[in-house]
This record gives sequence, structure tokens and C-alpha cells, in this order.
Amino acid sequence: MNNISTIGILTSGGDSPGMNAAIRAVTRTAIGRGFRVKGIYRGYDGLIHGDIREFTTESVSSIISRGGTILKSARSKEFTTPEGRQQAYETMKKEGIDALVVIGGNGSLTGARIFADEFNVPCIGLPGTIDNDLYGTDLTIGYDTTLNTIVECVDKIRDTANSHERIFFVEVMGRDAGFLAQNSAIASGAEAAIIPEDSTDADQLEHFIGRGIRKSKNSSIVIVSESPKCGAMFYADRVKKEYPQYDVRVSILGHLQRGGSPSARDRILATRLGSGAIDALLDGQRNVMIGIRNDKVIYIPFADAIRSDKPMNLNLIKVLDELSI
Ligand code: F6P
Repeated sequence: MNNISTIGILTSGGDSPGMNAAIRAVTRTAIGRGFRVKGIYRGYDGLIHGDIREFTTESVSSIISRGGTILKSARSKEFTTPEGRQQAYETMKKEGIDALVVIGGNGSLTGARIFADEFNVPCIGLPGTIDNDLYGTDLTIGYDTTLNTIVECVDKIRDTANSHERIFFVEVMGRDAGFLAQNSAIASGAEAAIIPEDSTDADQLEHFIGRGIRKSKNSSIVIVSESPKCGAMFYADRVKKEYPQYDVRVSILGHLQRGGSPSARDRILATRLGSGAIDALLDGQRNVMIGIRNDKVIYIPFADAIRSDKPMNLNLIKVLDELSI
């Protein structure tokens, strides 16, 4: 068991549906295999300030279907400082925590990587983010639920868009990744998706205008990946200016995308990855994220998991184009 007797578990960064299922799987697998488990509240902030409770199998009862995270989450500023991490290490020692399971996205796993390197602490990551932007895993926990939530919203927007013969720019989350935008566009039958992985924003808009608006359709829906410089509002303004004859509206879906009961797919993914985290520790694995590729649970070194160039199938944009005639 590599001298590990107590495992600490935390959720960090933006919450995602399925995090609770992962907490449950980690806790029950660990206890079943003879470890003690401690729940660390409010992400790395809780590790720094000792917001920690012993977990039993009952601590995770009836949470598999709940959205959010029972452990709460935070984007810890303190943990980005050497002093904060030193304090976190002191707390770990005081609490007798020998290894950490961190459920979170890019920033959270970057933190885990630095911490593991600095203090030689065994850390295992689980990909918990709606953005699906962690490299090496086909899917991240929460992505499927969010995709379904977006599609449900866009279906509703389509009803009103059709009634009024409008063009809608619908902005979805994803930070710097267009997985949510691209695949929700496919699944909702949207006319286009504007994503960071494709050509420039201006080109993508031109392309849509060139082949979309001219057509005699009842309505048009463009899914736009959020961006600090040009979100849905930016595109809508441009179209309104250049084509005053069109009735244009914007809908920013916002944080409702992060809530809700996880889909069956996310629950299964979270459960497999959570149980895989304990297998990994027993295997002597260190500083890896547990992922899933071609239906197999795999270990991805943190350095790879946090790469920013997860491959995306840009052919789907062509498919979207072809289907929106
Ligand atoms: O990383 C998950 C995510 O929901 C992104 O899609 C989004 O950009 C960001 O978090 C929003 O963060 P916050 O909830 O802190 O505003």
C-alpha cells in the first residue's frame, strides 16, 4: 500500500455534475479496501485551513444523483502561493493524510502537479469539468450532462426563434475550448458553431453569414463558445449593423449549464474513474489523472493532462455546415 493509510479527497475549480458520484466512488472503494478517507471542504482552501472531516460510507449516501459537490468548491488564490501550499502540507501532516484525490479541471490539476512535486505527496487527479478540455481522456465528468442541458435549452430557444423568424446567438460555456459549443450545435440542429479551435472569429462569422442567413429558413441558431473578447453579443451587434433587415437576439446560458442531476453517462464515468483512482494508488501510481480512452480506464501524467491542445474533430463543423442547408 506504499505507506498510504489515509486518503484526502477534494473538489476544486468550477463544479460539474457527477462530482458527487466521483466522491462516492472514491470514498466507498477506499474504505472497502482498508483506507481511511477524509473529506476536504472548499477545495485547496479547505486543505490550507483544515476544513476537513472524517468520511464514512454513510457520508456519501444518496449523493450519486445530486448535482454540484457536497464538498463545496473554490478557486483558491492562496494555493497558488508557496506559503499557501506549505500551509496545506502542514495541514496534511497534522490530519495524517498520506495521499490526495483531486477532482477538478485544468487549474486544479495544475495545482496538484505543483504540490506533488514540491512536497513529494502522492496525488491522483480526476477530470471534473464541464469543458471536456483535459488532454488524454475522451470525456470529463460533467461534460455529458451539460451538453444535454444546453441541447434542452436550445430546443426551447428554437421554438421561439421559429415563431418570430429570428436569428439567435446562443453563448455557451467552455472557457478556451469549443467542445460544448460544437457538439451542442450538432445535437440541437443549430445552423453554426463559433469555436476557438476553428479559424478566426471574424472568418467564422463571415462564413455563417455567407451561407446561412441568405437561406429561406424560419430561424437560425448559432452556438457561440464564450470568449472574453467576442461573445454572442459581439456577433449579434455585427449582424444587426450589417443586416438591419434581420431580427437578431442573444441568449447567454450562463451558470445553469453547470447545475442539475448528472446524466447516467456522467454517473458511470465518475464511478469508474473514482474507483480507478484507488486502483491507481494501490498500483503505486503517482501524479496522474485517471481518464477514459476507448472505454478503458487509463493513467495520464499531470503534465499531459493539462496540455491545452486536446484534439477536436473539426470535421464536425463541416458536417454542421452541410446539414444546415
Ligand atoms: O471551467 C468550467 C467553467 O464553467 C467554464 O466553462 C467557465 O468559463 C468558468 O468555469 C466560469 O467560472 P466561474 O463559475 O468561476 O465564473
